[in-house]
Amino acid sequence: MRKNRLKQYSLLGIITLLFVSMIAACSSTPKNETTEKKAQRPIIVQGPMPIEAENFAKKLKNVKEEKSGDFVFYIGTLNNYPVIVAKTGKGMENTAAATAVAIERYNPIAIINQGTSGGHDPSLNVFDIVLGKRTVNLGSLKTADKAKNQGIDPTVWKPMDLMASAGSAGEDPNAEKPRFYEGDKDLLAAAHAVKDTYTKGKVVDGTIGSADVWNNEVDRIKWFHTKYGTSVEEMEGASAAQIAKAYDVPFLGIRVLSNNKVNGGKYNPNTAASNQEYVYKVVKQYISTMPSK
Ligand code: 5AD
Repeated sequence: MRKNRLKQYSLLGIITLLFVSMIAACSSTPKNETTEKKAQRPIIVQGPMPIEAENFAKKLKNVKEEKSGDFVFYIGTLNNYPVIVAKTGKGMENTAAATAVAIERYNPIAIINQGTSGGHDPSLNVFDIVLGKRTVNLGSLKTADKAKNQGIDPTVWKPMDLMASAGSAGEDPNAEKPRFYEGDKDLLAAAHAVKDTYTKGKVVDGTIGSADVWNNEVDRIKWFHTKYGTSVEEMEGASAAQIAKAYDVPFLGIRVLSNNKVNGGKYNPNTAASNQEYVYKVVKQYISTMPSK
């Protein structure tokens, strides 16, 4: 008899508990909270050098720092939206690795690679900004066929597209072309929308060329400008673009000219801060136009 009553009480207890937790679940988690959380994938802003990343990182709120290898991720918010500044270090290898790590770790909704660059276009001046409608690897090249003592001739080297096929790019005539990575149209639209707020120079669409090379030969720069249509060169954009594409993450390169050998534009490191100011506005604009906001 006592046992039966105990059983009844515990059954009642379980039912009440289930009922209370069902009500709690319904009232404390509005349906769209989970979907909103899902939509809040962070925007990643990459900068290679401290002067190209730390200004932006200081603008974020609620910052938490994480490291992976040499890469530093400043995880914070901008207008309550998650934004991560990645200090990648210079060059193609650092940037490719930092991009892959960031994608795997943080599942970003978009990536902006930004920083300084050298002009290839004589109409662009120090402090002008190039939006990478296209980004291309300038270090992917196939040399001419020459035997011993026939010398070296970089002017006849051919662009090589390592993504043309899974087979040997050295043997594949279809790989003798540059591989251009397109800038994401929504990121470009955000950049266009705030273009006029930048007062230190022009903001133009263009082609960003990347390699672990600093070109100081004006004729070589001209060769790239003619063959690839490059507006500027730097050492990171194309590697980030390649990895972003591999994971299907929207990407844009935004580069300020810190120097321009072609028209005598002297190196000015203050351009790095100006670019971050502009990119900050681009990110704010991008966030304001996101469907979940
Ligand atoms: N050539 C190559 N890289 C340049 N950078 C700025 N100007 C140039 C240039 N003319 C950037 C690179 C790299 C660092 C050396 O500065 O992206 O991060």
